[in-house]
Amino acid sequence: MSYEAARKDYVKHVLEESDCLESPIEMLESWLHEAVQETEDANAMTLTTVDAMGRPSSRMVLIRKLDQRGVVFYSNYTSKKSLDINENPNVAVNFFWPWLERQVRVEGTVVRLPEAESDAYFKSRPRESQIGAWASTQSEEMTSRDQLEKRAEEFALRFEGQEVPRPEFWGGFIIQPNMFEFWQGRASRLHDRIKYEPFENRWKFKRLFP
Ligand SMILES: Cc1cc2nc3c(=O)[nH]c(=O)nc-3n(C[C@H](O)[C@H](O)[C@H](O)COP(=O)(O)O)c2cc1C
Repeated sequence: MSYEAARKDYVKHVLEESDCLESPIEMLESWLHEAVQETEDANAMTLTTVDAMGRPSSRMVLIRKLDQRGVVFYSNYTSKKSLDINENPNVAVNFFWPWLERQVRVEGTVVRLPEAESDAYFKSRPRESQIGAWASTQSEEMTSRDQLEKRAEEFALRFEGQEVPRPEFWGGFIIQPNMFEFWQGRASRLHDRIKYEPFENRWKFKRLFP
């Protein structure tokens, strides 16, 4: 089948106003919970940042926590995405769960996670990932793959016999949300879309044309 001819009808679920929770954070939590039951990487989201010139840039990251503050992910603080965030804290994320025929969009402004929380999360990671964080000067040019593997070996030696500390240049971010959209695929392209925005210290939702 060619991608030009690929075509499907979305028929699995519906999204009624009566399904919409008061809090879009709880709504996302519930959809995420359903999504991760079925496959790996359901916690992956596309993160779009914008640089100082207004140029957008997207990549996948993993959601690691969701609470009243917003969506938490981790990265290298000197990476391209982090430099963009330093210049412009406005970001957008996008989840797509094809097996549920669902999409969620979140927009918000980013702040750094408190250091103690980044420390605790870093501690919980496998040792190889901790070493990997030290070894990667994320987004910088590398002369060859060897360079990365050599750095990983060097850091493995440096921290041999001790706990690997969190590098100062690696940690979490919180996306403080100001918009959520829940999309449920429906038959004949008559999809359901529900958009939440803040309204007088709570959230208000409305239905959008698909
Ligand atoms: C499924 C998936 C999950 C990823 N999760 C993360 C993540 O949580 N944090 C991260 O920094 N990069 C993650 N990456 C790598 C990023 O997509 C990206 O390559 C990297 O962060 C560098 O991006 P940048 O140069 O735009 O900063 C992930 C990639 C994939 C495909």
